[in-house]
Amino acid sequence: MLRDLSLETLVVMKLINIVGARPNFMKMAPIVRQLERHPEIAWQLIHTGQHYDDAMSRVFFEELQLPPPHVFLGVGSGSQAEQTAQMMVKLERAMQSYCPDMVLVVGDTNSALAGALTAAKLCIPVAHVEAGLRSYDRTMPEEINRLCTDCISTLFFTPSRGAGEILRREGVPADRIHFVGNVMIDTLMACRERAMQSQILETLQLEEKNYAVLTLHRPSNVDTPSTLAWLLEVIGEIAGRIPVVFPIHPRTQRRIEEFGLQPRVGTMPQVKITAPLGYLDFLKLMACAKFVMTDSGGIQEETTVLGVPCLTLRENTERPETVTEGTNVLVGRDRDKILAEACRILDGHGKVGRVPERWDGKAAERIVDVLLRWSSNPSGG
Ligand code: UD1
Repeated sequence: MLRDLSLETLVVMKLINIVGARPNFMKMAPIVRQLERHPEIAWQLIHTGQHYDDAMSRVFFEELQLPPPHVFLGVGSGSQAEQTAQMMVKLERAMQSYCPDMVLVVGDTNSALAGALTAAKLCIPVAHVEAGLRSYDRTMPEEINRLCTDCISTLFFTPSRGAGEILRREGVPADRIHFVGNVMIDTLMACRERAMQSQILETLQLEEKNYAVLTLHRPSNVDTPSTLAWLLEVIGEIAGRIPVVFPIHPRTQRRIEEFGLQPRVGTMPQVKITAPLGYLDFLKLMACAKFVMTDSGGIQEETTVLGVPCLTLRENTERPETVTEGTNVLVGRDRDKILAEACRILDGHGKVGRVPERWDGKAAERIVDVLLRWSSNPSGG
């Protein structure tokens, strides 16, 4: 077989990039775009299949122009242990077959942890994008994933100075920590213009700045019947003042059915439930909303950059700069606080913030620069 020697000699590094769940796709897209400009890095994209629906996966590949994955593991749903273990078994084979110099994982999903653990056990260095985030709440699967991934990573790409300080306090050598900015915001900036062409407001018959958006999927909010019922009650009260659009996550949909809460949801005509939306529609929906209520991590960041007030339905956040600098307010599960903050926004006094440092659309560029430097001196940072 003829081999293209010119290309082979050019390659300075082989990389495996791992995605699996919805937020991974937004974080990986700008990195892949940068890698495409650097033929000296050979790479594979592996999709674990943690999210597999068209609405949770395929639409993001299309809209974010992600190339089809080189390897699809088809792991699907399962308990935390089942899902992570199955991914590891399949990832091990994929990594042994490609023999990368480094494995890059993004965020805090089970797919990221499975990728990091499998690589570390094969003695392959791990690069963690979105390193150093801590909610200090170990009941969250994502917090366990973050802690474990950071324990075994070699390169740490952080979205904020605070995340770097946390890592240093935990003993990570300073030369391994790279403050690159926020890759999720790279995607937001790259897609903003296209998103504004979306017809989602017309489709859902909404008026700009005259509706709120709700997303809910954290196990702590949706997996207990009394908590979910209580949250829907509070949302119902807010919907008495402003229409609420609720693109519903499959986990939440399932729980509403399991807990017999459909009748309650059905009696809230001001709450518009939709299937999970694609990236562009959802970005337009957020950008034009009066405010957003969420328990997602990424949405806290996106609303901060869009300048849209965000009420986070959690007791803590691993993204404190969205509160100290951005438009985010932690309202937890305090009914009075949720309603008071919603009223404040409706009365025209929503929080105004600024965009945090290096959330400027260039994070992926910085990441690839560091990878190239590392490839020439793997023992350095
Ligand atoms: C996962 C991530 C979370 C991220 C979220 C975004 C972990 C630990 N959690 O949570 O950090 O914010 O994705 O969505 O990795 N399901 C479908 N179709 C799909 C995917 C999932 O119906 O395409 C169902 C599953 O069957 C399961 C439920 O949704 O019952 C939850 O999926 P799972 O991947 O376990 O976690 P998420 O709650 O989505």
